[in-house]
Amino acid sequence: MSSSRVIQVRGVTKTYSLGAIAVQALRGVSLDIERGDFVAIMGSSGSGKSTLMHILGCIDVPTEGRYLLDGVDVRQLDDDDLADVRNRKIGFVFQSYNLVPRTNALANVELPLAYARLSRADRRRRATAALTALGMSDRMDHLPSELSGGQQQRVAIARAIVTNPALILADEPTGNLDSHSTADVLQAFSDLNDEGRTIVVITHEAEVASLARRVIHLSDGEIVADDYGTDATYPPALTPELS
Ligand SMILES: Nc1ncnc2c1ncn2[C@@H]1O[C@H](COP(=O)(O)OP(=O)(O)OP(=O)(O)O)[C@@H](O)[C@H]1O
Ligand SMILES: [Mg+2]
Repeated sequence: MSSSRVIQVRGVTKTYSLGAIAVQALRGVSLDIERGDFVAIMGSSGSGKSTLMHILGCIDVPTEGRYLLDGVDVRQLDDDDLADVRNRKIGFVFQSYNLVPRTNALANVELPLAYARLSRADRRRRATAALTALGMSDRMDHLPSELSGGQQQRVAIARAIVTNPALILADEPTGNLDSHSTADVLQAFSDLNDEGRTIVVITHEAEVASLARRVIHLSDGEIVADDYGTDATYPPALTPELS
């Protein structure tokens, strides 16, 4: 198995049962994502984008099929292990920022480090560095309510990267932002990708998708298109031993 693949998904389905009704949110998704890639996932409302992201982020598990994150089959992990993987390997960014309201920007970014064996000073140093990288060094003492939407989202991105995760997953990160703030957030993702971080972003916006190297289209729980521009080596061929 190639270690360049941070994500390997094979035949993943997800069925939600609501009483007698079963909703098939994913109907057999297979894909690999290379380390350091920048992937956009597009598709209409209800096509399964967030469901796929929850599985990639170990927030949820597939009904059928396999998911290997960094070569580890998540089926082998219990709830504690999954929480640990989420903490160490994945940074999440959501449309609604999800910052802790009565806590300043710096403390919000320190939060994911609470479980790391770091001194208070080291936590502070890393959170400061992450906020500085996002151009937020002059807003570290501000509460979320004292920040613009774009600034709140940059704090949320700082919080997502402070643990140095292999994978950054973003679900409509610019969905609530004006064009100026969108540009700031996109620049942040671009910079992170230039540093070699793997980014998977769900978006409805062509502007966001245009930044990605690869664009995957979902429709009704299936991949219907996988666009990778003119780069003939993408998307990576699925490794047969996992099929
Ligand atoms: N917890 C759940 N229980 C039952 N059905 C669900 C649940 N979450 C999602 N679904 C259903 O699964 C399908 C896919 O939902 P999903 O949230 O993945 O769509 P999406 O592509 O992210 O849409 P949007 O663009 O509106 O965010 C939808 O039909 C939805 O109603
Ligand atoms: Mg969604």
